[in-house]
Amino acid sequence: MEKYVIHGGNKLNGTINISGAKNAALAIIPAALFAREKCRIENVPDISDVRTMTKILRYLGAEVSNPEKGVLVIDGKNVKPLTITDEMTRKLRASYYLLGVLLGEFGQAAVALPGGCYFGVRPVDQHIKGFEALGATVSTENAVINATCDELVASSIYLDVVSVGATMNVMLAAVKAKGKTVIENAAREPHIVDLANFLNSMGADIRGAGTEVIKIRGVEELHGCTYSIIPDQIEAGTYMVAAAAVGGDVIINNVIPKHLESITNKLEDCGVTVIEEDESVRVISEGCRPRACRVKTTPHPGFPTDMQPQFATLLCTCNGTSTVVEDVWDNRFKYVDQLRRMGANIIVNGDTALITGVDKLHAAPVEADDLRAGAAMVIAGLMADGETSVGNIKLIDRGYEDLVEKLTAVGADISRVTFEED
Ligand code: EPZ
Repeated sequence: MEKYVIHGGNKLNGTINISGAKNAALAIIPAALFAREKCRIENVPDISDVRTMTKILRYLGAEVSNPEKGVLVIDGKNVKPLTITDEMTRKLRASYYLLGVLLGEFGQAAVALPGGCYFGVRPVDQHIKGFEALGATVSTENAVINATCDELVASSIYLDVVSVGATMNVMLAAVKAKGKTVIENAAREPHIVDLANFLNSMGADIRGAGTEVIKIRGVEELHGCTYSIIPDQIEAGTYMVAAAAVGGDVIINNVIPKHLESITNKLEDCGVTVIEEDESVRVISEGCRPRACRVKTTPHPGFPTDMQPQFATLLCTCNGTSTVVEDVWDNRFKYVDQLRRMGANIIVNGDTALITGVDKLHAAPVEADDLRAGAAMVIAGLMADGETSVGNIKLIDRGYEDLVEKLTAVGADISRVTFEED
């Protein structure tokens, strides 16, 4: 077993280089199978979710090589639409993108219901609604979703919920469907635009990604391409919040500042200085008690739900009482129990957490409940005086490349320790 051991209290100074976006990579990598020839994908983050996804592609018959750090070359010419089993999907929610790709390319797909972080119910009804609108027959037997269609035909689909996954999956299934598909009430996250740009690099005809209406004109064939994935908005936001929480002067490099606007604005509400450059943001903070504020998570361009645990951790030492409203997921406050072990004063009532600032968090042994909650525990350890250990860090490895190296380089006292489980 492994854990992080953190001795908190150090200010952070220096530069952190951001890796490619996990949630873009997890859609783009399976989408490369449409080419049936080589695609070269650059700026791929070296994280366990990407390794899990490449294992699934190899199982389907794709050739996936990693000629250099951050680069995958994928050749889908020998891919077959095999069933993606529960053993593979339980580790990776994004496995459901294989439904859209295999249905779109082969007219058939069988993918076990997905796993991933647990924040309450995580349905896929909108994905299925989109596939059926395109003419597919979709059934679920033994927890495997089966989708088949002789010929997908364009349609207009109104998503009842703004869903990143459903928007991307319907886009994937529609990319070769005859005619013009329109997705309305689409999600607008940067990784959706990245997927559309990647598919268009392969010869697709997708317009409007990044707005709530996406139009996809089906094409006959898609070809190989070379593509570089956008920087990870959430990784960048996590380190911005870490710098704000402990104090210092940190340049977060290789970012698209526009993707970080909602996080920047919220940090400025708390009294933190954020200076935007072309491809970086600089966070300057005294690290003393941030101003209390109100945060509500909404789909992009609002405040990202994937930044909620990290930001709530920053607010644990705010001056006054802050409010955090989680409006995307049913139950994303499980991590609060871990923060309470460190002395946080948080009351959770339904979708709202009331955080009354305390002077200091106290070091303690805590666990990562999920990927972003784990990142929040790291921030809490950096904030607290003394030694904090964070367990279950394999969940953090899913989405953060070289976290220890990146934080150590700017002055954090954090190490990865192996220990025997009792
Ligand atoms: C993606 O999950 C991300 N995961 C999540 O990030 C992120 O929290 C989420 O989008 C919201 O931004 C990946 O991209 C791999 P949704 P996804 O479909 O697609 C409801 C991380 O930390 N809904 O946008 O599963 C759903 O219950 C992870 O990187 C339906 O009701 O999220 C939720 O309330 C955690 N029916 C809301 O929509 C559906 O068919 C948003 O979910 C689909 C979703």
